Amino acid sequence: MEVKCRRLEGKVAVVTASTQGIGLAIAERLGREGAAVVVSSRKKKNVDEAVEALRAKGITVVGAVCHVSIAEQRKNLIDTVVKNYGHIDIVVSNAAANPSLDGILDMKESVLDKLWDINVKASILLLQDAAPHLQKGSSVIIISSITGYNPESSLAMYGVTKTALFGLTKEHEFLWHSPLTGYVSHEVGNWILTGWECA
Ligand SMILES: NC(=O)c1ccc[n+]([C@@H]2O[C@H](COP(=O)([O-])OP(=O)(O)OC[C@H]3O[C@@H](n4cnc5c(N)ncnc54)[C@H](OP(=O)(O)O)[C@@H]3O)[C@@H](O)[C@H]2O)c1
Repeated sequence: MEVKCRRLEGKVAVVTASTQGIGLAIAERLGREGAAVVVSSRKKKNVDEAVEALRAKGITVVGAVCHVSIAEQRKNLIDTVVKNYGHIDIVVSNAAANPSLDGILDMKESVLDKLWDINVKASILLLQDAAPHLQKGSSVIIISSITGYNPESSLAMYGVTKTALFGLTKEHEFLWHSPLTGYVSHEVGNWILTGWECA
């Protein structure tokens, strides 16, 4: 897709789970609009390939291995951003898991733990790590889902974790009593892919 707008020139963006899928598409779009981007995911091979593919498109990018549930790797991701670019303007918390299609009453506790750890807790912990490096005007985007509005039976618990993310973005302290003086928003995945247009 040709992008003529460079409104993110000079901005720095970090995106989790961004070596494939929606995360990679977000990273590419941010980069095409001029942002320096840090991509990440669990597997080094995927990170290296994504960095190479984005560089081939003229995007300023570095990568870091980051499983969002591993504290040292989240810290390393934020350190990589700051070491390479000095500050953070945009955090996109995109990683999510949906490890089981079981109904809520049949779901194993280990699966419940994984859903909450990756889909909700990791977003909060990532922002705790990033917060000291955010500044006035920085933006945080947490990728939720349309299922968060009305969790359907086949995606029930996954949907409920996505509902929780809506609440997180509305929480008063999260919005206003933190170093985040910009806006905090949740977005539905499909909108992210199609909705960012330059005027
Ligand atoms: N797909 C949809 O239709 C849809 C609709 C609405 C909302 N969403 C939301 O959009 C977001 C992205 O969805 P998607 O479909 O693009 O996901 P996806 O295709 O499953 O994402 C794959 C990417 O995530 C990385 N990844 C997987 N687990 C990870 C973890 N624990 N930590 C870090 N990286 C991880 C993978 O790389 P590695 O294997 O190297 O880790 C890969 O780069 C999610 O929040 C999802 O809930 C998706």
